[in-house]
Amino acid sequence: MHKDCERILISESEIKNMVKNIATKINKDYQGKEILLVGLLKGSVVFMADLMKELEVDCKIDFMCVSSYGTSTESSGRVNIIKDVSQPVEGRDVLIVEDIIDSGNTLAFILKYFEAKGVNSVKICTLLSKPDRRVVEIPVDYIGAEIPDEFVIGYGLDFAENYRSLPYVGILKRSVYS
Ligand code: IMP
Ligand code: MG
Repeated sequence: MHKDCERILISESEIKNMVKNIATKINKDYQGKEILLVGLLKGSVVFMADLMKELEVDCKIDFMCVSSYGTSTESSGRVNIIKDVSQPVEGRDVLIVEDIIDSGNTLAFILKYFEAKGVNSVKICTLLSKPDRRVVEIPVDYIGAEIPDEFVIGYGLDFAENYRSLPYVGILKRSVYS
């Protein structure tokens, strides 16, 4: 375990199961359709890479980068697009892939953004969610696990751009950021 990690919250094998379960649902729901997976950079890349390998439905992938965090552990509430998707999304069945939902600000913005672009459908798939921190209610279609209000790292999730490569999800020691 990494020295800055308080404890492991979700182990590698638990994550594998979560990803498989989500993929099973997606494969069923999107049968006969083609999905456009849109990963939100950078936190979703590890999850998205594992998830797409389990998909049996046809899919294309794209990425968006939006900012709301900086280096603090609190959401700013303001969302800026840093990188948009690189293909037309009109009429497509879009599945947003996110690492974690905290306040909900990021996804509330993204949902409105895709709806305004005239997609056929837009759904949300997130590895983790912290329901206690929600400020804006958003519909979550696929979720790996709900977690308590703790700052977590690993499996794509960072603190100040560190720890993304850890293969598990761990709780960051408070001494690292307070
Ligand atoms: P929201 O807009 O407040 O829902 O924030 C979502 C974003 O905040 C996620 O995409 C993450 O990048 C970041 N975030 C929220 N909680 C955590 C955490 O515990 N660890 C790492 N990143 C987090
Ligand atoms: Mg993120």
